[in-house]
Amino acid sequence: MFSLHDLPLARVPLLGGPTAIEPLGPDGAWVKREDLSGTRYGGNKVRKLEWLLGEALESGLDVLTLGTVGSNHLVATAVYGQAVGVRVQAVVAPQPDTPTARRNARILHAHAERIWVARTAAELPFTLARAWGSTRLFGGYPPAVFPIGGSSVLGCLGWVGGGLEIAAQVAAGELPAPDRIYVALGSGGTAAGLWLGLRLGGLASEVVAVRAAPSWLASPFRVRRLAGNTLALLRRHGAPAVGLDRLRIVDGQYGPGYARSTAAAEEASARAEAVGLTLESTYTSKAYAAMLAEPTGTRLFVHTANSRPLEPLLATALDEVPPSLAGLLRRA
Ligand SMILES: Cc1ncc(COP(=O)(O)O)c(C=O)c1O
Repeated sequence: MFSLHDLPLARVPLLGGPTAIEPLGPDGAWVKREDLSGTRYGGNKVRKLEWLLGEALESGLDVLTLGTVGSNHLVATAVYGQAVGVRVQAVVAPQPDTPTARRNARILHAHAERIWVARTAAELPFTLARAWGSTRLFGGYPPAVFPIGGSSVLGCLGWVGGGLEIAAQVAAGELPAPDRIYVALGSGGTAAGLWLGLRLGGLASEVVAVRAAPSWLASPFRVRRLAGNTLALLRRHGAPAVGLDRLRIVDGQYGPGYARSTAAAEEASARAEAVGLTLESTYTSKAYAAMLAEPTGTRLFVHTANSRPLEPLLATALDEVPPSLAGLLRRA
């Protein structure tokens, strides 16, 4: 089976080994416990950061990245950046006020080197340019820019690893080959890398990417482009040609807007709790709801949110969201 081990690219180990796959009862549903990846903050960002931070570390660059003020990508990047000695600056935009967003904003504030505020989503590119330019103007090195959600070709490599890992777990008899694999879709890197990794690992499971972000970001076009570009990179390093087929984007769980819950997501969250999984309302409860709506065959749910305890990360955080960021948490 193709392996990422021989790739001549820098990688910093953050995962701590393969994440477990567990049955969710007797009816053919399984979960990939990505929520317990890493040691500090779990979820789907850890695999991406092994490659993204690996490159930043190797080149000695600071990192500049962007997202909404409660973004898991920003939290994970700031936390793991601090852990491995890479300074992280974040450009933040408004989002609906949720308990997860409040907590994430506090953790981000405690771990980022500097935070730049964009008062509207439209201001985001200008604030990013200002942050980048101010480093350059005063004689600094250009920082490495990680895109929204860490979804670049490098970030996708992390989830190629995730797809290969699932294929290896199937080959080892840990679970039957899934008919469908459900994953939340935001900036696309997780679904794209997973899809490609499964095919490189010889698994033909349908990838069901459940849209949880606006369609300008979470689009089939973007997932296909990311997967295609990542495959092109890997082909230069010995990967076989594989067909990219059986990707389905589910639009129907998104609801009224980003980070806004739905009745189906709330019900999914309650049913997940009953089998020992804690979901959040923006991404994972929508992906789980999509799986519950199709209760046949062997299904695998990829749990992409963090389930690691947050006390250690909150220990150095302020008790409340700092005033500079509080105005970005808008009432839904
Ligand atoms: C918990 C969670 N699940 C899924 C996603 C979607 O991942 P991606 O942006 O790679 O599509 C995100 C993105 O922020 C996330 O925070």
